Amino acid sequence: MQAAAGAPQSRYLFGTDSVRVLLVAGARPNFMKIAPILRSLDEAGEEAVLVHTGQHYDRQMSDAFFRDLNIRAPDHYLDVGSGSHAVQTARVMEAFEPVLEEVRPDWVVVVGDVNSTMACALVAVKLKSSLGCRVAHVEAGLRSHDWRMPEEVNRVVTDRVADLLLTPSPDATPNLVAEGIPEGRIRFVGNVMIDTLLESLPRARARGLPASAAELDVYALVTLHRPSNVDDRESLGVIFEALERLNDRLPVVFPMHPRTRRNAEAFGHEDVLGRFRVIDPVGYLEMLALSDRARIVVTDSGGLQEETTVLGVPCVTLREQTERPITLTEGTNRMAPWPLTVAGILESCRRAGTEGRQEVGAKTPAGWDGAAAARIVSALAEAGAVAAGAD
Ligand code: UD1
Repeated sequence: MQAAAGAPQSRYLFGTDSVRVLLVAGARPNFMKIAPILRSLDEAGEEAVLVHTGQHYDRQMSDAFFRDLNIRAPDHYLDVGSGSHAVQTARVMEAFEPVLEEVRPDWVVVVGDVNSTMACALVAVKLKSSLGCRVAHVEAGLRSHDWRMPEEVNRVVTDRVADLLLTPSPDATPNLVAEGIPEGRIRFVGNVMIDTLLESLPRARARGLPASAAELDVYALVTLHRPSNVDDRESLGVIFEALERLNDRLPVVFPMHPRTRRNAEAFGHEDVLGRFRVIDPVGYLEMLALSDRARIVVTDSGGLQEETTVLGVPCVTLREQTERPITLTEGTNRMAPWPLTVAGILESCRRAGTEGRQEVGAKTPAGWDGAAAARIVSALAEAGAVAAGAD
């Protein structure tokens, strides 16, 4: 296979043997991160094995992303499904171990901070001495410093056991160094999710908005799924009251995560939902089109904080803190005052709305340039060469 322009000459770097890379994806925010890495590995002629844990399994939470991002069918599907953190993590570990023993890759590449990320990293590090596989973590070093977030536990554990820490922004390095991780293991590669965004934006614009929002000139795009916001009756009540008031001035378009819908119904908010434009979760291209055309985005998602920064769309984040502070200092993101109040959320939305949008790419942190996947493959190649001599 031909090497892509700008992609590493991996055969040269790795030597004559092909390198086998096992890529793990489990949940919605993983899919846009693995897509460009898989493509770069394929283009470089390396052997890539894709494992989907099945943490997310609904058509709109999983298949739609494979379709929109042209990701080939996984080589192994673990079918773990939903469960408590312990159950889900344990199921991934149990199901992943025999796959790893069968595939025997040189690298296990995990991305992001979901339960599947940590579970597969743990399995791989424990089999390292018998199989020789090493772990690379893409999106290493992000920290919210909030141990109540399951993702923070997943990030810290994954980074601690990984051999190669591939960071999306320069602020991640000091976080890792402060935890005692040797600088030699850390490589700044940039934000691979932005590779997917920049590549997909023309297609998303051509596809247009979902039917339920198609006639709107202006709207606020809202997404919520964090347990701290949606599993708590009082928090969800405050957020919904603010959104109702916002909706009086700016229609609220709300693709709703299954967790949020379940809780909204359980907490008796069916009537409020009827006032918003609530739609089922949408695929990648429709979500990108919705974000791109929004007056403001109101969210608790980490990925949307980054995507709105590149799109130049003002974002209001409904969380106590963010593990992506670069979107505040070098992007279009702002945090609603904490603890959340109706007035605080509305004031943040008002300010975001008056700010207006900027050109795509006008505010872009270093390394959010569409070439992160090529740098990731390069980093795997170089670390592979060093380790081959050292181990
Ligand atoms: C997970 C990730 C979170 C990520 C989010 C994106 C962890 C700890 N959390 O949270 O970091 O931001 O994905 O969506 O890994 N469900 C379905 N269909 C599905 C998947 C889930 O109906 O395809 C429902 C189930 O009721 C499930 C609930 O959603 O119990 C939560 O799913 P889960 O994967 O446990 O966590 P998320 O909240 O999606």
